[in-house]
Amino acid sequence: MPTILITGATAGYGLAMAHLFGSHHYNLVLIGRRSERLEAIQEEFKPKGVKVHVISLDVTDREAVDKALGSIPAEFADIDILVNNAGLAKGIDPAQKSNLDDWEIMIDTNIKGLPAFLRLPPPPAPPPVSTGGDPEFRLLFY
Ligand SMILES: NC(=O)c1ccc[n+]([C@@H]2O[C@H](COP(=O)([O-])OP(=O)(O)OC[C@H]3O[C@@H](n4cnc5c(N)ncnc54)[C@H](OP(=O)(O)O)[C@@H]3O)[C@@H](O)[C@H]2O)c1
Repeated sequence: MPTILITGATAGYGLAMAHLFGSHHYNLVLIGRRSERLEAIQEEFKPKGVKVHVISLDVTDREAVDKALGSIPAEFADIDILVNNAGLAKGIDPAQKSNLDDWEIMIDTNIKGLPAFLRLPPPPAPPPVSTGGDPEFRLLFY
């Protein structure tokens, strides 16, 4: 079965993607900070026969990301689809009153949190969805 890695899989779009691809029996690698949510999601998939590997980390922690990506179990290690989705919005004040700490968190998460995942090796075979024939192409969602 193909494998999909989803960051920000504990809620929102990421969780919806996990359910969608899980319903097609993809192997799931699910990432988020809340380990209890990840474990609950993993439990949910068990009776459905979907293989799930969960990783609790903060995408702004480069060392943790490198370590986690380097130790994905072999059966999940060939990632066919990357959903680089973890992110957040902070602060609702007008721009002139915005909190610079909020900006820093958003930039660290939504921008600087992405590239580490792009360094995953390309899939060994063409991905399951046709991409026009380029075997190096991996589906990416941001
Ligand atoms: N919803 C919108 O209208 C909208 C509009 C434009 C862009 N977006 C972007 O689309 C993406 C998904 O949005 P959503 O509405 O589904 O958001 P959401 O429901 O708040 O879910 C965000 C996900 O990102 C994870 N996350 C946040 N910060 C993280 C971090 N530092 N490290 C690891 N995981 C982190 C959260 O998990 P944990 O809390 O467990 O870490 C959660 O699983 C985000 O990047 C968001 O910025 C959303």
